[in-house]
Amino acid sequence: MPRVRSGRVKGARLRRGSVTESPFRHDLYYRRSVLVTGGATGIGYGIAHAFAQHGATVHILSRDEGRLADAADRLGKSGLGGAHYHVADVRDEEALEAIAAEVGPLDVLVNAAAGNFPVPFSAMSGNAWESVIDIVLNGTANCTRTFGQRMLDADPVDGGRSILNIVAGYAWTGAPGVSHSGAAKAGVLNLTKSLAVEWAPNVRCNAVSPGPIGGTEGMKRLGEDLGLDEAVVRSIPMGAMGEAEDVAAACLWLASPAAKWITGACNVVDGGQDAVGPFGSLFAAMKE
Ligand code: COA
Ligand code: NAP
Repeated sequence: MPRVRSGRVKGARLRRGSVTESPFRHDLYYRRSVLVTGGATGIGYGIAHAFAQHGATVHILSRDEGRLADAADRLGKSGLGGAHYHVADVRDEEALEAIAAEVGPLDVLVNAAAGNFPVPFSAMSGNAWESVIDIVLNGTANCTRTFGQRMLDADPVDGGRSILNIVAGYAWTGAPGVSHSGAAKAGVLNLTKSLAVEWAPNVRCNAVSPGPIGGTEGMKRLGEDLGLDEAVVRSIPMGAMGEAEDVAAACLWLASPAAKWITGACNVVDGGQDAVGPFGSLFAAMKE
């Protein structure tokens, strides 16, 4: 087994009612352990933060130790359960196995780690394709195999243990310009449904599909850097990009006992972007 670099930040003291704006019970995840891959930044951090704020012991896993330690420090201070970080690449199954053995069965696994960059398929090298498929599809499968199998083998908990896979709306359309990511996310969505059946009733498997989330690395690469931010906003019926906390709220709900009969689903959190469909431009013209 490889030696794995990790760290821990103790939880804060309980301040009742401190999550005043949250519609969820502040201790909904107290004594629950949650691991978020890609949890040091962006949407993954938003999800880890929401679980921490609602009492969970939170684990975050990614490659950059500086970002992990900084995020774990902030997460530890914002919740009761404390935060742990684990330095690993989701492509490295041996490292994941060592971390899973140390962490034990999780209540919730969130697969949010991803890599993506825009490049037309004909300009994409084989290694560029493989790198995204390896992180997104194989990385999700690796984490599910190592952490998820332990969840399946553990004693059942009320409402079921949960795996949440973060996908994207182009998992069920085409993904021109990011075909590697589209193929990988489509695979992740399909894996979600396969395991929802294979692992019922003890482990529920659902996907969450964010639309464009402002201030994230994903939207920097696929929006801002291409000068597309305004066009992106125009494509969203709700009139603005979303926030990581919008995605996190869906995760809190889906992993809770309130969603105990939901498995194999994909919760779209996109301000209505996917609903626009082929008649969206026609409707816009009718309004003018
Ligand atoms: N356009 C075209 N090809 C690119 C590219 C780009 N913008 N960025 C990387 N590549 C290619 C590289 O040239 C390399 O191919 P080559 O060996 O044929 O030259 C291949 O992709 C792998 O690059 P490498 O840097 O070795 O990959 P990595 O595994 O170390 O990093 C990435 C993975 C490329 C996805 C990197 O961008 C990353 O770490 N991303 C994480 C953050 C992120 O993507 N956030 C958004 C999530 S939506
Ligand atoms: P982000 O901040 O770059 O998140 C990606 C995270 O994955 C980073 O923390 C990164 O950390 C980690 N990661 C990348 N490669 C890894 C590897 N090989 N092993 C372990 N960890 C790795 O980007 P984001 O935009 O918030 O995206 C988060 C998730 O939401 C992704 O699944 C993305 O596809 C999805 N999504 C985003 C949007 C959006 O609008 N942003 C929309 C739809 C879906 P390290 O680099 O330190 O490893």
